[in-house]
Amino acid sequence: MFDQELVKKIRTAFPRAEKDLNGRKRAFFDNGTGTLVCERAAKAEAKARIDCSANIGANFDESKEAMETVKAGREAVAEFLNAPSGDTIVSGESATKLLFDVSYAIGKECKGTENVVITELEHYANVSPWNELAREGKIKEVRFARMNLEDGTLDFEHLQELIDSNTIVVSVTSASNVSGTKIPLERVSKIVKETKAYFVVDAVHHVPHGPIDVQKLNCDFLVFSGYKIFGSHGSFMYMNPEYMENLKPYKVKPSAKTGPFKWESGTRNQAMFASIKGVLDHFLWIAEQVQSQYEGKFKEYTGKRRAYKIAMDATQQNENELSKAVLEGIDDAPGLLNIPKVKIFGITDTKRLDERDPTFAFVVDGVPNEDVIKHLWHEGGIATRAENFYSYAVEVFKQKKVNRISLVQYNTLDEVKDFLKTLNVICN
Ligand SMILES: Cc1ncc(COP(=O)(O)O)c(C=O)c1O
Repeated sequence: MFDQELVKKIRTAFPRAEKDLNGRKRAFFDNGTGTLVCERAAKAEAKARIDCSANIGANFDESKEAMETVKAGREAVAEFLNAPSGDTIVSGESATKLLFDVSYAIGKECKGTENVVITELEHYANVSPWNELAREGKIKEVRFARMNLEDGTLDFEHLQELIDSNTIVVSVTSASNVSGTKIPLERVSKIVKETKAYFVVDAVHHVPHGPIDVQKLNCDFLVFSGYKIFGSHGSFMYMNPEYMENLKPYKVKPSAKTGPFKWESGTRNQAMFASIKGVLDHFLWIAEQVQSQYEGKFKEYTGKRRAYKIAMDATQQNENELSKAVLEGIDDAPGLLNIPKVKIFGITDTKRLDERDPTFAFVVDGVPNEDVIKHLWHEGGIATRAENFYSYAVEVFKQKKVNRISLVQYNTLDEVKDFLKTLNVICN
């Protein structure tokens, strides 16, 4: 858990946590779309731009430093995800692009008889790459495991039924980017690993909210994006080293034939590696602040790998408190559950907070989404939006758009209270 002092300190690590560029005090609740940047990450990124803007691969200092920055960034991401080494981490322009790269490479191996199993909870970044394979006839079909409409959870039995001996890939999100509902990845992993299918995880939404361990998940690919976790744009993907070597991504002939560089078409952006390292250093700092609460816990990890687990577990516990307040209310502000006109898409039981991230999709009966969003911004200084969020789940919920708030480590109970009070006004 974070105490109030720590929340204050965390907020000072984010230059725009309190006020926007125009000096307006506002609560930033649009984090699922992209978080505010952590100062440490922005400074590291700027330093890399200035000090080592040269391209990697030469013997002069700026070039050597650029290479060191890339290596250090890969290493830090590997420790954060508990991947075996920095050589298992590939960077890319976006999570969408990395998922397309993986789908193309896997498609080259297919005979047209295979199927890919995904879920109805997905962002389209984890739908379209597989649909493209089906459209091109590289695979027979994409199968969607059902979402339970009442709470946005995965129909696990249905997922199990869909996977068969022709399944080449099972690709799932770690959490819905609209309802916040998590998928029980370790359960999914167990069934996938009984087959020959590749196991792909889209961790883009979940990554700022809790610990991730790719070895425990036994996944083959796991992707996340820097801008959803307080850093710069650009994304990172863990790859099972065997598949990193054996699969054949589209590449230019002279580029590396092995390792992450084989997958990274074109020139690397060393500044994005500096940025993610800055973010992860911030998490190490959080771990130092809370480590006394974790004596004897996460003993299976050592050093920085343990520190990341501690930081992210504490973050998750803290965010559960925020979620509880959003749902049940705080002080004199009624929670979403107590505002009759509000319909929530996702888990609402506060005993099940571990099954969700602090992301809430909702509509207000009789009030258009645009009016809700405008009211929240103009009357309460709550920055958020209504969209389809490129989410397949929004269609399954039979909505064109939903209002969404998504909270992260710099959000406070006071901000939640302001949000609820402001929302309540337009619901009366
Ligand atoms: C769950 C999920 N997956 C993938 C993406 C796409 O990420 P990127 O913009 O890095 O391609 C998003 C973006 O919102 C997302 O929420």
